[in-house]
Amino acid sequence: MQVKTTNETRTILPEIDLRKVPRHVAIIMDGNGRWAKQRGLPRVEGHRQGAESVREIVRAAGDVGVEYLTLYAFSVENWNRPKAEVAALMRLLRKFLKDEIPELQKNNVRLQAIGRLSDLPPEVQEQLHESIEATRKNSGLTLVLALSYSGRVEMVECVHSILREIKLGHLDPAQVDEKVISQHLYTRYYPDPDLLVRTSGEMRLSNFLLWQLSYTEIFITTILWPDFRRKEFFAALQDFASRQRRFGGV
Ligand code: IPE
Ligand code: IPE
Ligand code: MG
Repeated sequence: MQVKTTNETRTILPEIDLRKVPRHVAIIMDGNGRWAKQRGLPRVEGHRQGAESVREIVRAAGDVGVEYLTLYAFSVENWNRPKAEVAALMRLLRKFLKDEIPELQKNNVRLQAIGRLSDLPPEVQEQLHESIEATRKNSGLTLVLALSYSGRVEMVECVHSILREIKLGHLDPAQVDEKVISQHLYTRYYPDPDLLVRTSGEMRLSNFLLWQLSYTEIFITTILWPDFRRKEFFAALQDFASRQRRFGGV
């Protein structure tokens, strides 16, 4: 079938049943370093190509009607990488946030971010807030960037936030249930992911959305993130469409 977008008409794989497109897709974008190494290039070149994949996947997700796309872009643990790589990643992130505004506007994408955003360098925080503000009113895809993110840190912050409310007398400890916890996580405005994609073949969560992934369908591909493009994304959606979700039922 053909999907009409603002600037061109692109063919999408006819096999995708648009009624079975996940509402929320979360992606662990892994393998940039290995992609570069395979080509004898510096790791940062893998990150640069990885940013191209982000562009393409954001477009593709919007085209098929995914409502939320959460991308794991930088973990709390990633601060432990060599200084030069962290600096290069932060420069790339800032450039991406600035350069993408027109494209996000054109495609009606609303940008959001989760994580310990105050850990980011001030100039990245500024650009992030500017890009979020600029796209605030867009009503298409919500793109959530996980930056300086850790699932365990998110849970610790959630506990602190609940304790504060209890101390203020706004909440009774007996009222704390799954719903209250969900409402105190960074992700309180979004539904839980329906599909988790991890590239580069690692079979682990690496501290991503530990609470929210409880019943998420998992798709792992050995394709490295810089090679993960429209076609590969649609293959993941197609696989998802064939899953039978039971949520513990029969
Ligand atoms: C993912 O690629 C990007 C980030 C974690 C920032 P990696 O940089 O982890 O690439 P590999 O896993 O070393 O190949
Ligand atoms: C997970 O990738 C974090 C991001 C994709 C941002 P890593 O490369 O940091 O994870 P590990 O070290 O392989 O678990
Ligand atoms: Mg990695």
